[in-house]
Amino acid sequence: MLEHLARKWARKEKMEQSAEFDSNGMIPNHIAVIMDGNGRWAKARNLPRIAGHRSGMKTVKEIVKASDEIGVKYLTMYAFSTENWKRPREEVDFLMKLPQEFLTTELDELVERNVRIRMVGSKEELPAHTLKALETAEERTSGNTGLQLNFALNYGARKEIAIAVKDIVTRLQAGEIALEQIDEEMISRHLYTSDFPDPDLLIRTSGEIRLSNFMLWQLAYTEMWFTDVLWPDFTREHLYQAIAEYQGRARRYGAV
Ligand code: IPE
Ligand code: IPE
Ligand code: MG
Repeated sequence: MLEHLARKWARKEKMEQSAEFDSNGMIPNHIAVIMDGNGRWAKARNLPRIAGHRSGMKTVKEIVKASDEIGVKYLTMYAFSTENWKRPREEVDFLMKLPQEFLTTELDELVERNVRIRMVGSKEELPAHTLKALETAEERTSGNTGLQLNFALNYGARKEIAIAVKDIVTRLQAGEIALEQIDEEMISRHLYTSDFPDPDLLIRTSGEIRLSNFMLWQLAYTEMWFTDVLWPDFTREHLYQAIAEYQGRARRYGAV
C-alpha cells in the first residue's frame, strides 16, 4: 500500500517537473477552465484590477491556440459568473467590454483556424454591445468545424438548471412530453451546453479549490486540476502539465 502511494507520488512529481504529455495518448476532448486570479495578479503589481483582466486576455489567446494545436475539440472558458455582477460598476463595465476587444483583434485569426465560437450563459442581462460582439462571432463562425470555443458569460449553473426545469415543466404542462420521459438525457438537452459533451478536464487557477457555480451538472465525472498559478501567469506549459496529469488518472465512472 505504502509502496503504491510512493510510486504514485513519484509519478506525480515527475509529471509536474516535465510538463510533458503523451501526444499519442488521450487528449481531453473537452477542457473547461475557471480563469481566476486576475485581480490578485494586478494587486501584486500595484495595478488596478482591470489591468489583471487585460493581461488575462492574453492568456486566453495563448490557451485557445495551444488547445487547438494539440487537438482539443471543445474549450469552455468561464469569463463572468452570474455572481460577478456584485463587483464594482467600473470593473463590470470593463469586463463587459472585453469580448468586443478580444474579438476585434482575434476573430479573423479564429475564423482562419476554423474555430467555432459559442456563448454559454444568460443573454438577458448583458449590455447590447457585449451581446452584439458575441452574436457576430457566433454567426461568423457557425459553419466552422474545428475547435469549439465556448465563453461562459453571465453563466451560473444553478440558474441554468432552474431554466431547464422551467422549460421541461412547461412542455409537460402543454402535454408535449410525458412525466416518464423526463430523464438525465432530457435534462442535459435543456442546458446551455446541450450541443457539447461534458468536460473531461477542469482546470482552475489561483489556488481556489471550488466550483463557484460552474457547470454543476456537467462536471459530475470530470477530472479536476487545480493550480496556484494566477490566470495571467498561466502558460501553455501549465496546460500541458494538466494534460499530463490527466493522462495518468484512472477514470472509473463508478466501475472497478
Ligand atoms: C477572474 O479573476 C476573472 C473573473 C472572475 C472575471 P478575478 O477577477 O476573480 O481575480 P481575483 O480572484 O480577484 O484575484
Ligand atoms: C469564478 O471566479 C468566476 C470566473 C472565473 C468567471 P470568482 O473569482 O468570481 O469566484 P469566487 O468568488 O472566488 O468563488
Ligand atoms: Mg476570483
